[in-house]
Amino acid sequence: MGAKKSRIDRVWAREVLDSRGNPTVEVEIGLEDGSHGRAIVPSGASTGAHEAVELRDEDSSRYGGKGVLKAVANVQNIIAPAIIGYDAENQTKIDRILLDLDGTNNKATLGANALLGVSLATAWAAANSARIPLYRYLNDQPTYVLPTPMCNLLNGGAHATNSTDFQEFMLVPVGANSFQQGIQWIAEIYQVIKQILSEQNLATTVGDEGGFAPTLESNQAALDLLIEAIVRAGKKPEKDIAIALDPAATEIFSPEEMYELSCENKILTGSEMVNLWAEWRSLYPIISIEDGLAEDDWSSWTLLTERIGLTTQLVGDDLFVTNQERLKRGIRLGAGNAILIKPNQIGTLTETLEAIKMAQQNGFNTVLSHRSGETEDHTIVHLAIATSSGQIKTGAPARGERTAKYNEILRIEDILGKNALYLGGEPFQIEKRN
Ligand code: PGA
Ligand code: ZN
Repeated sequence: MGAKKSRIDRVWAREVLDSRGNPTVEVEIGLEDGSHGRAIVPSGASTGAHEAVELRDEDSSRYGGKGVLKAVANVQNIIAPAIIGYDAENQTKIDRILLDLDGTNNKATLGANALLGVSLATAWAAANSARIPLYRYLNDQPTYVLPTPMCNLLNGGAHATNSTDFQEFMLVPVGANSFQQGIQWIAEIYQVIKQILSEQNLATTVGDEGGFAPTLESNQAALDLLIEAIVRAGKKPEKDIAIALDPAATEIFSPEEMYELSCENKILTGSEMVNLWAEWRSLYPIISIEDGLAEDDWSSWTLLTERIGLTTQLVGDDLFVTNQERLKRGIRLGAGNAILIKPNQIGTLTETLEAIKMAQQNGFNTVLSHRSGETEDHTIVHLAIATSSGQIKTGAPARGERTAKYNEILRIEDILGKNALYLGGEPFQIEKRN
């Protein structure tokens, strides 16, 4: 082979802002042929204890201690000299170098934010050098499955104060014929919800992911509000639009190992939580529940999966943290049947793709996901499409950092034409396991 034009010759990082106004890491990578890749790292609020480390400066004189200049310096001073000269097409090699330089399981030395920025910017640079979209660079196929969105309409928990205990109430356009039609339905319902809230003199302010965050009398009232809005918008609950939940139960799990529903003054055991989800499942068209139980409450997870796991997608977010070791444990214990995929929970693209592969090989559904602190970066869209995950979770159909993802899918759907497939509710089905 002759001289590789896709050799890395420049690596640069800087501190930019995320959607909460907190600093985060942006990385740029330049190649010898003049191509260029860029990625910005997102940031969570209800982060799992087992996630890779997001390195913050802890210097209270800047950004309340949240600066990321150390991570930026790690990219420029430690990572850049180690990867310059390598071929950006060799993603696994670059990611191996990153892991070796860091040397820890949880990326505590250099920071998962430093590693992920470099890893994703490398992939973008290589795709740009090949002059193809990232999804095609990662997986060249004649047709692609676009992700069905789980859209956040109501925000609570750690993403909005004085709202529901549960973090996310989402809608899924399962009956739409195309992604475009699906997102249109959701955006129309979003406006209907705003109208209903105004009529009831409830706040129309929004939470971190763009969903409305009213103070309701109970958690269940959020479900009734969603159903009312679906019907008022002229759509059929279940057939057209299903409900998905992310209660983010780790956030309400007490040191006494009880679930505290403070908005209802209730304290539940693990098995009572399982009963609650089974009851809700029988009353509402809920097709997916993420983190219905806490991140280390494995036995309750197994119980829930036995109870409703044949008919309901049960997604591990804080439970699995995109980590193959935790996923293996879940597969062994029958805990959950789907995994949320957040690249910054693990720190490199290679590990992200490996987690997706392991899940898919074991009959687990995979859902690409944003974080509550986001940016205009839309890499997760390309990962969802490249891996045929068929599902994405990326917030309300509003706010620039959320619509950046939806708009990228609309663009790809338009460009691919009939080679783009939208499967509605099909990707949520549970593979039968004996
Ligand atoms: P986070 O929330 O980004 O704040 O962790 C998203 C989620 O829990 O899915
Ligand atoms: Zn979650």
